[in-house]
Amino acid sequence: MGDEPLGPGPAMAAYAAPPPRGAAFDAWRTWESRDDAQGVIAAGILAANARNVQPWRFTVDAHAGRIDVYADLTRRQGALDPFDRELYVGLGCALENMVLAARARGHEPELRLLPEPDRPEHAAVLRLLPGEPVPSELYDAIAHRRTNRGPFLRGPLPGPLLDEIAALAGDDPGGPALRWFAGGAERDRVARLLVEATEAVIADEGQSLAGHHWYRGTDREIERRQDGMTVDTQGMPPLMSTLGKLLPAPSRRTADRFWLRNTRSVHVATAAAFGMITVSNADDLTERMRGGRLLQRIHLFATARGLAVGHLNMMTVRADRERELGLPPRFGKALEELVGEPGRQALVTFRIGRPARPAGTSPRRPVATVLGTDAG
Ligand SMILES: Cc1cc2nc3c(=O)[nH]c(=O)nc-3n(C[C@H](O)[C@H](O)[C@H](O)COP(=O)(O)O)c2cc1C
Repeated sequence: MGDEPLGPGPAMAAYAAPPPRGAAFDAWRTWESRDDAQGVIAAGILAANARNVQPWRFTVDAHAGRIDVYADLTRRQGALDPFDRELYVGLGCALENMVLAARARGHEPELRLLPEPDRPEHAAVLRLLPGEPVPSELYDAIAHRRTNRGPFLRGPLPGPLLDEIAALAGDDPGGPALRWFAGGAERDRVARLLVEATEAVIADEGQSLAGHHWYRGTDREIERRQDGMTVDTQGMPPLMSTLGKLLPAPSRRTADRFWLRNTRSVHVATAAAFGMITVSNADDLTERMRGGRLLQRIHLFATARGLAVGHLNMMTVRADRERELGLPPRFGKALEELVGEPGRQALVTFRIGRPARPAGTSPRRPVATVLGTDAG
């Protein structure tokens, strides 16, 4: 597929491995079976979210057509996300899927972020007003989207395609925006920094432990927890994935070394371009959720065009850790230089390219598990 033109929707299913059997993957198969509020939540839980912690809870008032979205603070990543940056970006990703699902199923969505400013865990209210069904290629991509950690085919992407993706941000000058690092010294600098930041993360005992906490090494654990990172989503060739599941789960140190090696020789080496979402204040929860919505929109658009996306956030993860521990701001400063624009800050970064092989499916907790009462 390397050189063929990229038209709308080529073979999007070819780059997502079908969900494996088992209740932990049912959410991918059943998400379209309802068109009410619970169906909208079913679309939300398929969104990208850091470490697959699924940091959300929902309540539904079916009569009023109202869904309340809450940050589940029991599912924090700890040292890997000390200020909840990634947690709120993940909530934004879920909200984007929910808005698309609401529209596709004939509701007019009315979204309000942080409805109770003094209670930040109350992330959003989504009202489903009467409307007309609005189908979209982004909606169609929801169940085909995967985070791809495998190799990408070499070669750049066409400039007009990158421009089209950047335009998904819209033209609100105060809103989230996309900055590309697509070639030359800029691209190389991001690649180098991502490797160095990964080295720093695994050298930091607290961050290494926080990552390992979300690793699910056996099918039994996946079925029991229905979250976290799995062998199948590490981007290995299918035979190696199968072998990986037969062997005992790797030690934390072995897993860290594998991850660093892959970051260097696969993730950054084969990326066609790196993208960075910038906002005017990365500490602002509303901006994080708006940035998350853009991130998910980009990922869905890429999926619809047969492209792959891999999230790579070790620079921001380190910058936040530096702030938490009062360390010299090595990555904080590097990010500022990369953004290169006063009044804008890095929120998240990712790589994009043409996938060399399908990406595995990650587990999800079903709607019934994440639906509850507003207990605060
Ligand atoms: C804010 C955010 C940060 C993420 N950071 C990383 C990252 O640094 N490295 C990585 O491999 N995946 C990262 N991911 C991808 C998640 O691990 C992935 O979305 C999750 O495991 C669910 O898998 P799926 O996207 O295939 O559904 C990130 C996702 C989000 C939304």
